[in-house]
Amino acid sequence: MRIDIISVVPELMTSPFDASIVKRAQEKKLVEIHFHNLRDYAKNKYNQIDDYQYGGGSGMVMMIEPISKCINKLKSEREYDEIIYMTPDGETLNQKMCNSLSLKGNIIILCGHYKGVDQRVRDLYITKEISIGDYVLSGGEIGAIVLVDAICRLIPSVLGDETSALTDSFQDDLLAPPVYTRPEEFEGKKVPEILLSGNLKKIDVWREEQALERTQKLRPDLLK
Ligand code: ADE
Repeated sequence: MRIDIISVVPELMTSPFDASIVKRAQEKKLVEIHFHNLRDYAKNKYNQIDDYQYGGGSGMVMMIEPISKCINKLKSEREYDEIIYMTPDGETLNQKMCNSLSLKGNIIILCGHYKGVDQRVRDLYITKEISIGDYVLSGGEIGAIVLVDAICRLIPSVLGDETSALTDSFQDDLLAPPVYTRPEEFEGKKVPEILLSGNLKKIDVWREEQALERTQKLRPDLLK
């Protein structure tokens, strides 16, 4: 999978992708992440990428020309399955969207800033608009970090069996069951007996029951 990220502050995203699972995915050549600084596509020597909005009002708007130049350059080099715009008024990200995006070949992620992008960018180029929640961030970069992390761990072979994504919360509209590791007892609190029984069938049943119980208690909306 190839992910091209367009941003005015790409340096914001380098360290999260240079650690842990996303780093491992890149090292294993299962994903390539490329950053594109929008200022490199600015139309004048002042590297201007934003301007006042027509009709008045506070806040700058990202201009269409630099974005168009950058997207068209990328599109001339390869085909893209999705051109995503990170924005608080997009569709709220969930595990189903991540599952589906993890199966794509090439995607572009455009990070918005200021008041957002000129509407014509959205009309002409964007195929999917994604929000990571009902709050406004200072830019789309943190949303892009969340999205890329959530997608990368789902790409086949990124996680080993021991960390399989199939048992994550939300994979089957259920939260994950509780997990335990050593010691068997801590300050009088014991690991549930069933997990020490060695009976894998019974353990599976117990985990399903716990997942259902936890979902009913904490996220009943998932069961509807
Ligand atoms: N940009 C600003 N706020 C955002 C959000 N909540 N999700 C995605 N991109 C954003």
